[in-house]
Amino acid sequence: MEKTITVIRGDGIGPEIVNEAIKVMDKVAEKFGHTFHYQDILAGGCSIDAYGRSLTDEALQKCLDCDSVLLGAVGGPKWDGVAKEIRPEAALLSIRSAMGLYANLRPAKLFPQLADASPLRPEIVAQGIDLMMVRELIGGAYFGEHKTVEENGELVAHDDMTYAEHEITRVGKVAFETARKRGGKLHSVDKANVLDSSRLWRKTMHALAEQYPDVNYQDILVDNTAMQLVRNPSQFDTVVTENLFGDILSDESSMITGSIGMMASASLGDGTRGMYEPIHGSAPDIAGMNIANPLGTILSAAMMMRYSFDMAAEADAVEKAVNDVLDAGYRTADIMSDGHTRVSCSEMGDLVAARI
Ligand code: IPM
Ligand code: MG
Repeated sequence: MEKTITVIRGDGIGPEIVNEAIKVMDKVAEKFGHTFHYQDILAGGCSIDAYGRSLTDEALQKCLDCDSVLLGAVGGPKWDGVAKEIRPEAALLSIRSAMGLYANLRPAKLFPQLADASPLRPEIVAQGIDLMMVRELIGGAYFGEHKTVEENGELVAHDDMTYAEHEITRVGKVAFETARKRGGKLHSVDKANVLDSSRLWRKTMHALAEQYPDVNYQDILVDNTAMQLVRNPSQFDTVVTENLFGDILSDESSMITGSIGMMASASLGDGTRGMYEPIHGSAPDIAGMNIANPLGTILSAAMMMRYSFDMAAEADAVEKAVNDVLDAGYRTADIMSDGHTRVSCSEMGDLVAARI
């Protein structure tokens, strides 16, 4: 197969980790007889430096004219002072919205080889952590009206949180389908005891649940979810929630696995085209030092093969290679522990590529 991938190396460690993912993708292409074409665009801080804004129209167009987007990371303290419209994060939100990527899949899986890196007690970790967070990505407070106005002599800030039924239904379907293919269990997270948007969320999910009688469905409040994730994470299989709750809970669920540097994500819409990125940030403090963990990006490339390119065997090969490298005892600094071999970012990419 021939595929065109728009590549956003971005800021901080972004370029280093993306290079390793491309190294692995090239090896997959060679082994499985595919051709991957890469088209680079600037987005985030590097684009602000070059063009005065975090995303140009030409760059956005390349995200729309491709088979999928691979992203490293954007942002950093250097651009903290810029106007909100041109912030690095604004690029990310524009791409998500323009590409119609309403479903963000964030697997949080404990790699048994890294179990001691989890901050949870061993007896909790021993039950296993393997959950899929499905986060709504282009609605809610992120995309409602934002304004700061003067009222009665003081500043008042508004962030409107809105959901329409169709926005809930479409991500709900992805969640039910995902649950069906996994453990058959779905928790829908909301704050229906307080928020109208959550009450509509719950009502809409209940209507969908009737169409998926084979899925074991449960509502759960967001505060309770935050608590249950550290108390007993093994109870979760697939979890669906709105944008802001999903942002928060997906950081929590990846952290309890102990290795946020390993976590991948996929953002999908109606077609097959998606955007794929590790869930960690740009880590400016270690940028350019060749010590970052590229595995989250490499595993994101595997998700691209699985979800957008229908290349299941190729994705399996990448995931197995990562597993084999961990079994062989190789660790980047963030997951290093006694008795293992510390390797650099580029060495980790070489080790994975060699096992494809
Ligand atoms: C994420 C990030 C982004 C988000 C930021 C960088 C805008 O935290 O992908 O989780 O909040 O969605
Ligand atoms: Mg986040």
